[in-house]
Amino acid sequence: MNAMAHSVQSLHTRIAGTGSYLPPRRLSNADLAAQLAQQGIETSDDWIVERTGIRARHFVDDGVVCSDLAEQAARRAMEAAGVGPQDIDLLIVATSTPDMVFPSTAAILQGKLGITHGAPAFDVQAVCSGFVYALTVADSLIRTGTARRALVIGAEVFSRILDFKDRTTCVLFGDGAGAVVLEASEKPGILSTDLHADGRHVGILCTPGTVSGGQVLGDPTLKMDGQAVFKMAVKVLEEAARAALDKAGATDADIDFLIPHQANIRIMQSTARKLKLGEDRVIVTVDQHGNTSAASIPLALDTAVRDGRIQRGHRLMLEGVGGGFTWGAVYLVY
Ligand code: ACO
Repeated sequence: MNAMAHSVQSLHTRIAGTGSYLPPRRLSNADLAAQLAQQGIETSDDWIVERTGIRARHFVDDGVVCSDLAEQAARRAMEAAGVGPQDIDLLIVATSTPDMVFPSTAAILQGKLGITHGAPAFDVQAVCSGFVYALTVADSLIRTGTARRALVIGAEVFSRILDFKDRTTCVLFGDGAGAVVLEASEKPGILSTDLHADGRHVGILCTPGTVSGGQVLGDPTLKMDGQAVFKMAVKVLEEAARAALDKAGATDADIDFLIPHQANIRIMQSTARKLKLGEDRVIVTVDQHGNTSAASIPLALDTAVRDGRIQRGHRLMLEGVGGGFTWGAVYLVY
C-alpha cells in the first residue's frame, strides 16, 4: 500500500513528442483585405500589423472539420514520440469549434486515429485557455496513475464562426491544430499548473448562438469587446505566470521560454516585459498563424521544438487566456 502510494506520488508528466498542422490555404493581410473589400469592408495590412502583429493566417477549405486538423497534428506528435495508437490511453481535445454538437471531437478523432482499445476521450471547452486546461487535466490523470500516455490536442476552425462583415474581429483569427504526447515519467515534466475562470465576463468574448428545435438561435458568430479583453488578458497573464512560478518554488529567471496564447503581439510583449524576459525568450507565431484559440500554444510549441530553439531541459511557461473569462499557466521542463 505504502509502496504504491509512493510510486504514484513520484510520477511526473513529461512531453514525449509534439506535432502541429496548418491547413494549406494561407491568406496574407493583403489577401484578406482584398477579399473583404469585395463586400465593402475596409481594412489594411498596416492596421492589422500595427494593432496585432498578425501578417497572415490559414483557413480551412469547405468540408474540412476540426478533427481533420487534429488528426494531422496528432499523427505528427505520435511520430515524434515514437508511439502508435495502441500506446495512447487518454485522448483530450481542446476546442471551441467542434465537428458536431456531440459526440465530442475527441471521440471522432479517436476513430480516425484507430485507437480501438477503449481509451477515454473527451473535449475540453475553455476557448483560448483550452490547451492549458487540457494539459492540466491530463497531468492530473497521469500523476494519479489513471493514464500512462495521453494525447492532448488543441484544434480549431475559427474561420467557421467569424463574421466577415465585422472587421474588428475577422482579421484576428486563423485555423490550425497542435498536439503533444504526454507520458508518465520519473523525471519532471510538468512542474506546476494554475487555472482560473471568472464567469462575470462572459459578455466580453462569446459566440452566443445555440441550436434548438433544429434551428440556430441567436448569433453563431464571434463577438468581442477588444479593449476589455486586452486589459483583462494583460492583467491575468502576469498573475498566472507568477502563481505557477510560486507553486514550483521558481522565479522569473527560471523561465527559458515563454509560450503565451498567440492573440496579439502587444499582449505578449507586455507579459514578457512584466516577467523581465527579452524578446528572444518569447515564442511568437501570431504573425504567421493569427489567433488559433486553443491551437495557438501547441502550434507555437511545436514550431519552436522543430526549429531547434526549444531543447530538452529548457523550462517553459505556457499561458492561455480567453473567453469565459478563463486563464491559466503550465510551467514545465521540456
Ligand atoms: N481595419 C481597419 N480599421 C479597423 C479595423 C480593421 N480591421 N478594426 C477596427 N478598426 C478601426 C475602428 O473602427 C476604430 O476606428 P475609429 O477610431 O474611426 O472608430 C479604430 O480602428 C480603433 O479601433 P479600436 O477597437 O479602438 O482598436 P484597438 O486599438 O483597441 O485594437 C484590437 C483592436 C486589435 C482588437 C485590440 O483591442 C485587441 O487586440 N484586443 C485584444 C483582443 C484579442 O486579442 N482578442 C483575441 C481573442 S481573445 C483571446 O484570445 C484572449
